[in-house]
Amino acid sequence: MTDLQNRFHDIIAPVIAFDSEVEIVDGKGSWVTAVDGKQYLDFACGIAVTNLGHRPDAVVTAAQSQLNKLWHAGGAFLYEPLVTAAESIVDIAPDGINKVFFMNSGAEAVEGSIKLARKVTGRQGIITFRGGFHGRTMGSVTYTTSKAKYRQGYHPLLPSTFVVPFPHPYGWGMTQEEANAYALRELEFKFRYEVTPGEIAAFLVEPMQGEGGYYPASKAFLDALRAIADEHGILLIFDEVQTGFGRTGDWFTSQVYDVRPDVLVMGKAIANGLPLSAVGASSELLDQWLPGSHGTTFGGNPVCCAACTATIDGLREVIPTVPASSEHAFSRWNTLKEEHPTIGDVRGLGLMIGIELITADGSPDPEAFTSIASFARDAGMFILNCGPDGNIIRFIPPLNVSREDLDRGIDILTDAIAAYESGR
Ligand SMILES: Cc1ncc(COP(=O)(O)O)c(C=O)c1O
Repeated sequence: MTDLQNRFHDIIAPVIAFDSEVEIVDGKGSWVTAVDGKQYLDFACGIAVTNLGHRPDAVVTAAQSQLNKLWHAGGAFLYEPLVTAAESIVDIAPDGINKVFFMNSGAEAVEGSIKLARKVTGRQGIITFRGGFHGRTMGSVTYTTSKAKYRQGYHPLLPSTFVVPFPHPYGWGMTQEEANAYALRELEFKFRYEVTPGEIAAFLVEPMQGEGGYYPASKAFLDALRAIADEHGILLIFDEVQTGFGRTGDWFTSQVYDVRPDVLVMGKAIANGLPLSAVGASSELLDQWLPGSHGTTFGGNPVCCAACTATIDGLREVIPTVPASSEHAFSRWNTLKEEHPTIGDVRGLGLMIGIELITADGSPDPEAFTSIASFARDAGMFILNCGPDGNIIRFIPPLNVSREDLDRGIDILTDAIAAYESGR
């Protein structure tokens, strides 16, 4: 162990599980540099946060210049970066989202969206979808069902939360249509046997599940939820914390699928790595959230807001390039799937691609991920996994990754998969 690793283990609570203990000292674009000078291609992106890569020049300049003027106001004063960041978000957000409330983290924004939904509907029930990840705070972990371990030891969680299936066609051995029909039938049963729709304040759903296994919801499924929500006065909350800001090929997955949420939850890439999150909704809804009935000290920090506006400006040029990078990556991964029995499925949207690794009998193969990630690290590349079994590669390069680096990343993983297959 290095000196830093020893100090780390002595002082940092182990509950925060790090994927690696490689000490890095610098990051630029798609690359990070370790203390020993070794460079790594960073396809973890700080868990889908650095969509513009590390330290994009314009974001650095915006944050630095704000830092030199004002870095905290805490709700005591008005400051321009707050309003400009909100205007930038509304400009790119799905139709109908025209007001914003800023917070600090994804979990906090999820909880904010639930408080908003309960307040404005006067109803208590929340419906969430199995495999969803919405955060780790006491409220948000109630809605998180991507792994039982995240909830273990914390019960009782918030009452009046109802979990229904989210379509997992590959995992269930079904077509997308069959999986949608099954999930919607279970929702119908939920309403028939457990809770009436009139008691439900909101559906909380990721339009593409992230941590739970990189499953896109499909337009048909989200259209169906939209229709049920409209019929019963239920709010449709899209948690786009991981899928937002270009990751799935448009600003938000809502626009990829052309399905309108009532409430949009944002975080992660919103300021390319500075801590900021937000809830967006119509002014009709947000104007009913009366002053003081929710609040924050740090949310909407001036430096983070300046970084947010610069990030959105930077993404304006990058997002139109995502479909071509996505097509290239999907085409290569689909070819690799034909050649490598370890790859059971390739799925996703934009540059949010899940590669599911399986054993010879088709079961999830977490050992394959461990071996591939370790090979990749030795070869100079970082990746993360997802899914309840940890057997799915999250392929999430920065959105502005060069074609050369995109191919380099896929080449490294191809060698890693071949090495794993030759040894098993
Ligand atoms: C979809 C989704 N929602 C909420 C969160 C929680 O965000 P945070 O870790 O910033 O609290 C995450 C984090 O991974 C996420 O992927």
